[in-house]
Amino acid sequence: MEKTTQLYEGKAKKVFATEDPAYVIVSYKDDATALDGLKKGTIAGKGAINNRMSNYLMQLLEKEGVPTHFVEELNDRETVVRKVSIVPLEVIIRNISAGSFAKRYGVEEGIVFAEPTIEFSYKNDDLHDPLINQYHALALGLATKEEIQTIETLAFKVNQVLKDYFLKLGVRLVDFKLEFGRLPDGKIVLADEISPDTCRFWDAKTGEKLDKDRFRRDMGGVEDAYREMMHRVLG
Ligand code: TMP
Ligand code: ASP
Repeated sequence: MEKTTQLYEGKAKKVFATEDPAYVIVSYKDDATALDGLKKGTIAGKGAINNRMSNYLMQLLEKEGVPTHFVEELNDRETVVRKVSIVPLEVIIRNISAGSFAKRYGVEEGIVFAEPTIEFSYKNDDLHDPLINQYHALALGLATKEEIQTIETLAFKVNQVLKDYFLKLGVRLVDFKLEFGRLPDGKIVLADEISPDTCRFWDAKTGEKLDKDRFRRDMGGVEDAYREMMHRVLG
């Protein structure tokens, strides 16, 4: 399958049409942003790492019964995915306190929760992706009740699969962000990406951060952290 016209350029990916309206090609960039787009940079090799890691994890999830948009990896940076209409919600699952959770509630990072948590943000750059609850998402017509229920169930399932998977690789899955899309027949599938851009990964032994927090917090060793995660996942 070949790219035709560019449909969209986001912060970390471009999306191209193909000859078949049911499929698009995603092209992963090395560009990175943080702090609501205020901080900009590049992470050398990130595009290829996120593409390959995300595709691997989506295929793992498919085997475990989670439907995804994944179709075929074309090369290091490009992947064919089903064209979906994205549900404008960022779905965040947390196993351990960190980031905005720790800040909002005034607690330290690293508290292990008895049960995972879920929260939603309204995907809207002009409004800076505000936190939103299920009732408000429904009131705004962002998704139906059934869709929200499906998304919650799938998100917790993704957490169970990935948490166990990463622990075997010596990595604690602290939290992550998912996005879901609708196929033309209305079916909800996991979309976007699963990568060190969208997850917090802590080394299980040392606690070392192996994700985009190294970029967000100017910690250095950003490329090494992405490479380390790629090696653990893909060998
Ligand atoms: P947070 O603690 O900043 O709310 O982030 C929670 C998780 O969501 C973390 O793994 C990073 C991920 N995330 C994104 O993928 N995109 C975003 O725009 C934000 C704010 C967080
Ligand atoms: N990617 C988001 C931004 O550009 C935030 C983040 O991942 O920290 O603001």
